Amino acid sequence: MKGVTPALVLASALLGRTALGVEVNVDDDSSLKQAASTVAYGLMKYYTGNNTGDVPGNLPDPYYWWTAGAMFGTMIDYWFLTEDSTYNDATMQAIVHQGAPSKDFMPLNQTRTEGNDDQGFWAMTAMTAAEYKFPNPPSDQPQYLALAQAVFNQYVKRWDDQDCDGGLRWQIFSFNNGYNYKNSISNGCFFNIAARLARYTGNTTYSDWATKVFEWEQKVGLISDTYDVFDGITIESDKTCKGVNQAQWSYNAGIYLHGAANMYNISGDGTWKQRLDGILKETQARFVKEGVLYEEFCELNKVCNNDQEGFKGFLARWLAQTTRLAPYTTGSITPVLKATAKAAGTACSGSPPTGFKGLAGTACGFSWLNNGAFDGIVGVPSQMDGLAAMIAPLAERGRSPFTEKTGGTSKGNPDAGSGEQKDPRALRPIMGADKVGAGFVTLIFVVRTIGGTAFMVT
Ligand SMILES: *[C@@H]1O[C@H](CO)[C@@H](O)[C@H](O)[C@H]1NC(C)=O
Ligand SMILES: *[C@@H]1O[C@H](CO)[C@@H](O)[C@H](O)[C@H]1NC(C)=O
Ligand SMILES: *[C@@H]1O[C@H](CO)[C@@H](O)[C@H](O)[C@H]1NC(C)=O
Ligand SMILES: *[C@@H]1O[C@H](CO)[C@@H](O)[C@H](O)[C@H]1NC(C)=O
Repeated sequence: MKGVTPALVLASALLGRTALGVEVNVDDDSSLKQAASTVAYGLMKYYTGNNTGDVPGNLPDPYYWWTAGAMFGTMIDYWFLTEDSTYNDATMQAIVHQGAPSKDFMPLNQTRTEGNDDQGFWAMTAMTAAEYKFPNPPSDQPQYLALAQAVFNQYVKRWDDQDCDGGLRWQIFSFNNGYNYKNSISNGCFFNIAARLARYTGNTTYSDWATKVFEWEQKVGLISDTYDVFDGITIESDKTCKGVNQAQWSYNAGIYLHGAANMYNISGDGTWKQRLDGILKETQARFVKEGVLYEEFCELNKVCNNDQEGFKGFLARWLAQTTRLAPYTTGSITPVLKATAKAAGTACSGSPPTGFKGLAGTACGFSWLNNGAFDGIVGVPSQMDGLAAMIAPLAERGRSPFTEKTGGTSKGNPDAGSGEQKDPRALRPIMGADKVGAGFVTLIFVVRTIGGTAFMVT
């Protein structure tokens, strides 16, 4: 099926629907699909990477490379749940362009500032493509499964037993700010990818690593007894690790929730069920307000940055997939996803004079609180969140992710990514853009770690 054509959407907009936002009946799949198509159209209008002279897989400033990786993951979910293939070519082109040169999502243009989490978001997108049987790239290009395996193998090599008894550092290279920080999102990418590779391939090397990462998070205090997932921990100059940064972000809860659901799915194991239930309970308590998803740490005082604005959309996607992998969670998760989709329909009602090129009256605001009253915060993250919200309820009656045994066709390579990792500074002279990039990294670090605490103080 192809999506609702923009002309059709435009016609309905002209019929006066705009004031209500994107009309959606959350109990009707065709209504959800139509709404999602309108929001997806607005989202892909931000993407210029496939224009002549631009770089496939990149979003224009101010959006980071990892956000683009996450956006294409959202577009794969969109295709899988709606069967609208309008954006598949652009999506495949982006993944191949960013994945092909190094075969591990470490393209030279990005490596100087690339963290384990940045690489992980692209790898999770490739993993999603494998699980959903997204059209495979030509056989002379790296395949989705092999790309995810490459990143897994590199994470294994970067696992650092010297400090904090294990864990991945946030940064890959020592010259980047945040190299002395071990954070839940980087380790969450490792955990999530390992758990999914375990489910997809049946190879226990992956599930052993998933268990090891999860238990390290618990041991070091980044996952608490009540399944709070904290932001990260600093490696002090004496090599001890203390001072857990207790900021909690919805994507950290989501990434561990979804990984745990994969581990539970493989085994039906009671320990994984307990972990899954614990994170789900904590998620419901912390990231749901007025019945809908929200970003507890920064949404109410409107201080979320571009990165943080996208987190709850990932949570929505991971919650939706959790209902497929652990069907017993459906009764608890689906009502939240439906209420969120309904509020998002109202929130996607903006016509800002700038910053949005989709159809008038369909720009998504960021907050879904206040019954989705449009808050004027538009951009890729808000639009991506809106899309994630619209498609999430479709998972209830949707297909389940495939595995090698149930029809997955992506070709793997268990040894991918095992080449030597070179210092990017030696490979390429420092360019103006890199300097700017490094500055951005410092900025994110400040906001993610110190800034988080500052909100609490002020
Ligand atoms: C880029 O992709 C978008 C979305 O698929 C499409 O509408 C547009 O025509 C593409 N542009 C080019 C130059 O191929
Ligand atoms: C790296 O940047 C160059 C110059 O903008 C561009 O031509 C190339 O496609 C980029 N490579 C990747 C993998 O993005
Ligand atoms: C694992 O996922 C499949 C596909 O959705 C589902 O049918 C099965 O019941 C799940 N296994 C468990 C233990 O819930
Ligand atoms: C399982 O995965 C590991 C890690 O990539 C690999 O070394 C091993 O050969 C794999 N085993 C099988 C049976 O494929």
